[in-house]
Order: sequence, then C-alpha cells, then structure tokens
Amino acid sequence: MDRRRALALFVNTTVAFIGSALSAVLGAFALGPSRAWQSARWVRAGALTDLTPNVPVPRVLVISRQDGWYRERARETVFLVWDGDKSIHALSATCTHLGCQVRWDTDTTNFRCPCHGGVFDAQGHVVSGPPPRPLDRIEARLDPSGADVLVRL
Ligand code: FES
Repeated sequence: MDRRRALALFVNTTVAFIGSALSAVLGAFALGPSRAWQSARWVRAGALTDLTPNVPVPRVLVISRQDGWYRERARETVFLVWDGDKSIHALSATCTHLGCQVRWDTDTTNFRCPCHGGVFDAQGHVVSGPPPRPLDRIEARLDPSGADVLVRL
C-alpha cells in the first residue's frame, strides 16, 4: 500500500467514525422527546388515620413530571374523601371554570370557588355558578397495609 492510499484510508475511516458518532447523538436527541409525558404513577397522599369519614381533606402533593427534555416539579392540591370503610377517592382542587383553587366549606358542606362563586357538592358535582363540569376525579386507593392513601397522578 502506498502512502497516498494509506492516507486516504485513514481520512475515510476518521470521517466515517465522526459521522457515526454524530448520527448516534442526533438520533438519541430526536427520539428522546417521543416518550412524551411520563405515565401516571401512584403517590402517597397521607395516612388513613388523618381522615374523617365523608369530610374532604386537602393534601398538597409535589410531583415530578417530564415532558421530553423538560422536567418540572409541580404542586397539586387534591381532596381525599373517605367513606369511613374501604372506599376512598380524591378530587382535584382545581375549579373547572377557570382554574382557581376551591376550598371546602364546613358550614355549608360544599366546595366553594373564591373567583366566580362556583359551588360543588362533596362528590364534586356542580351545585351553582359558572363551572361547566364537576371537579376532576382522581383515582385513589389504600396501600396494601391499609395505612396510607395513594393517589394516581
Ligand atoms: S374559576 Fe371557579 S368559578 Fe370561576
């Protein structure tokens, strides 16, 4: 092999190596975001002993979400509602009108939205005001030991 061929082989091999490495990096970057939002997962929301039957109890949860290359930590308020036996569910505290945070009013036993006067009953159904639909229901369950409440966010 003469010098010219050896040099050409070296240059071509180097270019091929750099091209392969660049393709691998760009491919990983292009395919990474296709995973989109991580699927929902179960988050501990509190102890069952902290709940009172049929009285919604607010819990502020911090959850980590990833959207493609973007990762954020978000706070989400949910109300845990326990029937006093084995049934438990959670309601989002976000009003379905324009997104204000509702509060539980113990006097009227309703959720009240401070922004435009929306009122929801204990099951999250609209009683009055502008909200177009009930509060979002969130899946909840007890952990296998029966001591903690888990919600799916
Ligand atoms: S945001 Fe709740 S009633 Fe408007």
